[in-house]
Amino acid sequence: MFALEINNVNKIYGNKFKALDNVNFRLAQGDFIGLLGVNGAGKTSLISSISGVNSFNGEIKVMGHDVLRDLVNAKKQLGVVPQELAFDPFLTVMQTLKFQSGLYGVSDNQAWIDELLERMHLTDKAHANTRSLSGGMKRRLMVAQALVHKPAVIILDEPTVGVDVEIRKNIWEFISKLHKEGHTILLTTHYLEEVEQLCNKIIMIDKGKVIAESSKQELIEKANGLPSSIEIETMDDKFTSELDGLVLSKSDNKYTLKLENNKSMMQILNTLTASGVVIENININRPKLEDIFLDYLGR
Ligand SMILES: Nc1ncnc2c1ncn2[C@@H]1O[C@H](COP(=O)(O)OP(=O)(O)O)[C@@H](O)[C@H]1O
Ligand SMILES: [Mg+2]
Repeated sequence: MFALEINNVNKIYGNKFKALDNVNFRLAQGDFIGLLGVNGAGKTSLISSISGVNSFNGEIKVMGHDVLRDLVNAKKQLGVVPQELAFDPFLTVMQTLKFQSGLYGVSDNQAWIDELLERMHLTDKAHANTRSLSGGMKRRLMVAQALVHKPAVIILDEPTVGVDVEIRKNIWEFISKLHKEGHTILLTTHYLEEVEQLCNKIIMIDKGKVIAESSKQELIEKANGLPSSIEIETMDDKFTSELDGLVLSKSDNKYTLKLENNKSMMQILNTLTASGVVIENININRPKLEDIFLDYLGR
C-alpha cells in the first residue's frame, strides 16, 4: 500500500484557471518527499485537495483511503501544517491542542501533547493565548496541532517561512525524527538547502504540472553542475588584471566572479594571493532552486 497516491488530479478555479494539470505521483511509506515549485506553481492547491479542503477531479488516496469517498479515514492518517497561520484567538496553546485532539476523537492525549509542546519549544507558552504568540511560535503551534493524532502521513506547506534560523533547525530536527520513526513526509519549500538537508526524493511542479521527479542526489548533482558565483571584497584595484574574464560584475569594492567549480575557486584565490591582493571578505552564491527549475525546464 502506498502512503499517498495522486492519480490524474486536476483542479480548476472559477471554471477556467487550471491550477493542477493531471498530476500523478505516488509516495511509498517512509518516503520523505520535497514538493518543489515557485510561488503559484500549485503546491498549496494540491495540499488542499489532499486534505479535502479543495474540490478536485481525479483520485487521491491516503494510506489506501480515498479522500473523496472516505474522507474521515483519510484524515485520520493525515496531518497537515498549512501555509496560512490560523487559530482560534480565544484559545490558549494547550486548549488549541486539546480541541484538535477532540476533533480527531483522540482522548488521553496529554503525554503526547506535552511532548509536542516540549519539542516545539512551547512548554512555557502552554497557557498563553494564541493571539499573543509571535509568528515563529504560531508556526510551531501549527506543527504541533497537525500531529496531535500521530498521523502516518505528514504534510508541511512551507513550514519554515518567516521562522528564524534556530527555530528552523528545531523544526528540521523534529521532522527528521518523525521520519526516522516511520512517518511519511511531504514538505513543500522554496529552499534548496531545506531539501538537501531533509528529503530523499523530490517532485517539482510548475504551472500545475509535474515537471520532474528525481532522487535528492540527482538534484544536488544538477545544482553542482550549474554555475555559481563568488563575491570578493577588496580595496585593491590591481584585482582584475588576471581575472578579467571571470568578472561578472563590480560594485564599489565588491567583485562578483563566475565560479565553474571548486577547483576554479582555488585558482581564483591562488591568483589573488600570488599577486598580493588583500581580500576583505568572500561570499559564495550557490545556485538557487529557481536556477535549477529553469534548467529542468530547459530555459
Ligand atoms: N482560491 C483560489 N481561487 C483562484 N485561484 C487560486 C485560488 N487559490 C490559488 N489560486 C491560483 O492557483 C495557482 C496556484 O496557487 P497555489 O496552489 O497557492 O500555489 P503555490 O502554493 O505553489 O504557491 C496560483 O496562480 C494562484 O493564484
Ligand atoms: Mg503555497
